[in-house]
Amino acid sequence: MADRVYIFDTTLRDGEQVPGCQLNTVEKIEVAKALQELGVDVIEAGFPVSSPGDFNSVVEISKAVTWPTICALTRAVENDIDVAAQALKYAKRGRIHTGIGTSPYHIKYKLNSTEDEVLERAVAAVKYAKRYVEDVEFYAEDAGRSDNVYLARVVEAVIAAGATVVNIPDTTGYCLPHQFGEKINFLMENVSNVHKAILSTHCHNDLGMATANSISGVINGARQVEVTLNGIGERAGNTSLEEVVMTLKSHQDLNLETNIKTQNIYKTSRLVSTLMNMPVQANKAIVGRNAFAHSSGIHQDGVLKNRETYEIIDPEDVGIKESSIVLTARSGRAALKHRLEVLGYILEGEKLDEVYQEFLKLADKKKDIKEDDLLVLVGEVEKTDSH
Ligand code: KIV
Ligand code: ZN
Repeated sequence: MADRVYIFDTTLRDGEQVPGCQLNTVEKIEVAKALQELGVDVIEAGFPVSSPGDFNSVVEISKAVTWPTICALTRAVENDIDVAAQALKYAKRGRIHTGIGTSPYHIKYKLNSTEDEVLERAVAAVKYAKRYVEDVEFYAEDAGRSDNVYLARVVEAVIAAGATVVNIPDTTGYCLPHQFGEKINFLMENVSNVHKAILSTHCHNDLGMATANSISGVINGARQVEVTLNGIGERAGNTSLEEVVMTLKSHQDLNLETNIKTQNIYKTSRLVSTLMNMPVQANKAIVGRNAFAHSSGIHQDGVLKNRETYEIIDPEDVGIKESSIVLTARSGRAALKHRLEVLGYILEGEKLDEVYQEFLKLADKKKDIKEDDLLVLVGEVEKTDSH
């Protein structure tokens, strides 16, 4: 039996913090319902103390969504926790996500505190949140740059205080995959009560390592991954949901599975991109416009003979009807022949050659050859031949 990895989606919290990505409550409910349909386990709906709008969104999402756990973020501050608990009043399953910075940067500069004081505040916050909900997640902010021995002390103490999930964020996206994996492994081996809670990864993409670090985390024992659709989030973004889910699905040898209905990935990605006014880069893995587009002649020939020659994911698995063969000046006869056949023209031998030569001339002038262009080309060659 494969081990279950829980998907914690923070599109509506870490993702929505991005300038220009703000959604109103109605739009957030639409995204939350789509996330439910996608099969995420936890929806981080907001940071209720941060604004009345965020508070209201957590309330309304809690009412609108039935089965994923609804999570609300707080600092390790009693008032934050009180407000989060109030916002979660209607949640069928509510989780409070509280925490504090554990790296030297946070302890010394941001908090002007000491390791022992921070540990005390961490434990007190978890105990305070437990008054309201059974399910309390603790985050050790900047765990990526925190000392592993100190981090292990904090993790052990918050689990003893009742944390059900402990989040190990690489807040600044600093770690390399082997370092992040070693951190999770260190905690798995050195925290005596670690099996009473789930370790979670929450990676940022400042060095483009968010997905690799998250995967390294689960390989080493984390069983929750915090993600956003399209990888949106602070600065260079968060780990992208679609990349983690499809990596686990593509590498069955890892024996790890999620609850995500992968066929819904593309439409959910489009919804988030449209509502948040945040275009997806064309070469973005899994959901980018070019993720299943083949443009060079060698690749097109290979894909037309057998899709798996150049595709490790069946596009239908993520809700994309089929991969595309883009006709450019790099395309070969096989691709042209295929596209013409789709349009109802079966061309072989000399005739195909003639159209291909005309096609190359046009493709050198035009970036992307469309169906209409092909119809004109075939028509012209046929006209010339009949004279
Ligand atoms: O990146 C981070 O550390 C966070 C925490 C608030 C979980 O977003
Ligand atoms: Zn974050």
